[in-house]
Amino acid sequence: MRSILSLCLAFSLALLVNRADSNSAYQRFQESLQLEISRKEPDKADNYTSRFIRYAAFGDSWSSGVNYGPADQELEYDYPNGTETCRCRRVNEAWPVQLRDDINNMTNHSMAPEWTHGRQIDLDFVACHASYFDAIPEQLAQLNDTHPPDFATLMIGGNPGGFPDLLFNCIFWPERSKDYGPEYPDPEGECYKAVQRCNENVRAQWFIEGVLRSIALILTEPRIARNPSFKLYVLGYASLFNEEDKACDQWSFGVWPGKKPLLKKALRKEINNVIHAGRELYDRLLNGPLFGDQVQYIDIDHLFDGRRFCEPTLNGTLQQQNEKSWLYNLEWPGCIPIMESDDPSLHELGLDEKRWPYFCRKCGGLLEYGEFVRPFHPKPPAHLAIKDLFLQKLAETISLDPPDKLRPKGLQDEF
Ligand SMILES: *[C@@H]1O[C@H](CO)[C@@H](O)[C@H](O)[C@H]1NC(C)=O
Ligand SMILES: *[C@@H]1O[C@H](CO)[C@@H](O)[C@H](O)[C@H]1NC(C)=O
Ligand SMILES: *[C@@H]1O[C@H](CO)[C@@H](O)[C@H](O)[C@H]1NC(C)=O
Ligand SMILES: *[C@@H]1O[C@H](CO)[C@@H](O)[C@H](O)[C@H]1NC(C)=O
Ligand SMILES: *[C@@H]1O[C@H](CO)[C@@H](O)[C@H](O)[C@H]1NC(C)=O
Ligand SMILES: *[C@@H]1O[C@H](CO)[C@@H](O)[C@H](O)[C@H]1NC(C)=O
Repeated sequence: MRSILSLCLAFSLALLVNRADSNSAYQRFQESLQLEISRKEPDKADNYTSRFIRYAAFGDSWSSGVNYGPADQELEYDYPNGTETCRCRRVNEAWPVQLRDDINNMTNHSMAPEWTHGRQIDLDFVACHASYFDAIPEQLAQLNDTHPPDFATLMIGGNPGGFPDLLFNCIFWPERSKDYGPEYPDPEGECYKAVQRCNENVRAQWFIEGVLRSIALILTEPRIARNPSFKLYVLGYASLFNEEDKACDQWSFGVWPGKKPLLKKALRKEINNVIHAGRELYDRLLNGPLFGDQVQYIDIDHLFDGRRFCEPTLNGTLQQQNEKSWLYNLEWPGCIPIMESDDPSLHELGLDEKRWPYFCRKCGGLLEYGEFVRPFHPKPPAHLAIKDLFLQKLAETISLDPPDKLRPKGLQDEF
């Protein structure tokens, strides 16, 4: 506790200093991260800012979504760019895109949210699947080089916290040749060790620093730092399991025969607890005095009540459980790989190639199929709920000048 506080203090001091003093420790820190961004001068005749609000969505796959199935213009945000589509896997069902479309498609402007002052949302969708804290400089570098964001969202910490570690070692046991040892809570098992690692991660100094540094990097991006009304909203993650349902004690999401770790209550609770520890940390760090009202943490956990895994269903079948859940579960790809069909591991899985109706967007080896990457990520109705909650928080907290009070952004540094 003491170390967290002193770290917070160091960060808040650095931030305060940075606002007033261009030679601050904070600036040197930022330079040490080699964040180099060259920007174009905005076109001064352009009345862009009176027509658009720029929104940047930073973060990982809970923001970007995960593409799946065949290459698809409807689904894939970066279609048809196969490099970018596979690098970041962004989808149009993700909540930042839903937010933009929700506001922009309101043809009756008197029904649009008041805070937009009739402007449309222009989105910098830079969130990228598989992002760790160190991805933020790269995402900042991808921002539109003419128009800086007026507000931004960030979802980060799931990967460094150890989401994938838990999914592999406690839920799916995907590597057929690996010996995962006894199931949780046996301390000899890989799952127990993974849970321990994650519990340590979300309480570690490096993790706290990673969260704070991600935020500080965004706030100190040169153009963002000049905008006193810029706001950053950090959204958290939801816990993944209903902890009460007894029937689920008998279920497993294990992939291979003979490798079926059970979803016992104690395990579900323990995995949820890792997420709860993260939620508490974010709330304490970000909704306290450290960043003032420029940064806000928004908790999304309650949105998933009744929609996690292991919710009771009518017949208690896995299918009904998967249908009820707002999180994707593992599904076999229903499509033919574009590049190769001779992967021996495919035959081992006993997939019937004749039934595959489409060619897949293939982003690498077998384990890179979207259907294998997206489990435990939000489905479209979850993205919709996140979008609605965020829009509500936005309306309560954001304050943007109406267009007639705006100056072109590029002139602000002259005052
Ligand atoms: C600014 O944008 C509005 C709305 O598109 C347009 O009607 C107006 O002519 C523009 N003004 C200038 C100076 O370009
Ligand atoms: C596709 O995206 C990559 C970034 O991942 C970019 O470097 C490349 O220029 C894009 N290709 C096209 C054709 O736009
Ligand atoms: C909403 O707008 C987006 C582009 O901003 C468009 O792609 C989408 O089709 C629109 N949806 C509806 C229902 O009009
Ligand atoms: C737009 O919405 C407002 C508020 O609901 C309503 O009073 C008005 O009649 C609508 N205008 C049109 C043209 O639909
Ligand atoms: C930046 O945004 C503007 C307005 O949406 C757009 O016209 C321009 O092409 C964007 N620049 C880049 C490099 O994408
Ligand atoms: C599910 O349970 C209900 C009520 O017990 C029963 O009527 C129904 O046939 C069952 N459905 C399936 C698919 O087993």
